[in-house]
Amino acid sequence: MKTISIINLKGGVAKTISAINIAYTLVKVHGKRVLLIDNDKQGNTSKFFGLHSYEDKSLADLLTDRDCSIESVIKPTAYEGLNIIPANMNLLRANKEILLDVSRPQQTRLRKALSQITNEYDYCIIDNAPDINMTVINALVASDDVLVPIKVDKFAFDGLELLVEQIADVKEFNDNIIFKGCFITMFQKNGVNVQGCEYLFSSTSYPLFHTVVRKTVKVDETTFVGKPLLDYKKSTAGQDYEKLVEEYLQMC
Ligand SMILES: Nc1ncnc2c1ncn2[C@@H]1O[C@H](COP(=O)(O)OP(=O)(O)OP(=O)(O)O)[C@@H](O)[C@H]1O
Ligand SMILES: [Mg+2]
Repeated sequence: MKTISIINLKGGVAKTISAINIAYTLVKVHGKRVLLIDNDKQGNTSKFFGLHSYEDKSLADLLTDRDCSIESVIKPTAYEGLNIIPANMNLLRANKEILLDVSRPQQTRLRKALSQITNEYDYCIIDNAPDINMTVINALVASDDVLVPIKVDKFAFDGLELLVEQIADVKEFNDNIIFKGCFITMFQKNGVNVQGCEYLFSSTSYPLFHTVVRKTVKVDETTFVGKPLLDYKKSTAGQDYEKLVEEYLQMC
């Protein structure tokens, strides 16, 4: 199983939409078995699939309760081959609890849990919060690859230095981690986006995917119907996520 963290310290750059659609593209186009982890207390990925709840166990339990098995927090989605570990506001409490509980390792809990199901999935995709906290550090320690969605504006790469530093710190626990690259989301064919995009491609020293994900109202529509793009109406963004996954797979 390969584990991919979708992360950016900035909010609203399409981390959740990318995690959902990359995961579903791997299932639908490539026939892979995918586990999607919601690692954000906002629980947007869980809500998308109608799996946000306070009755069932969630990621918070997995990271704080030593008797909680990973099987007990995995939920099936409506799509065969795509399962999810949901999250809710309890993740806030979990972050504090992990810090306070020094009786067992704090940074490697998710990796340890995932090691139990490594033969059951081909990919694990983690939708992270726009933050660096204990659960995000757990995600990085468990990840092979890091993908960073960005929006075209003057501040596109803000916070990336900090993220790169964090990835370097995590290497103490996880030598395998690779910052695979940034990819542009919500691209619009107007002057500022086209020029901004050219600027980003020419000026950055960070790895940048060639594939650009276009902006379309269909993405917002999918959040209401709870369907990934490839299971919804044909869309530019759906085609772009297909290309992005292809580009990613060719790098591996
Ligand atoms: N390609 C796209 N075209 C149009 N809208 C998009 C696209 N990608 C994402 N969006 C919209 O942008 C908003 C932010 O997306 P999303 O929730 O995935 O960002 P995020 O980085 O996960 O945010 P947060 O930091 O709050 O977790 C959502 O309303 C989403 O529907
Ligand atoms: Mg999100």
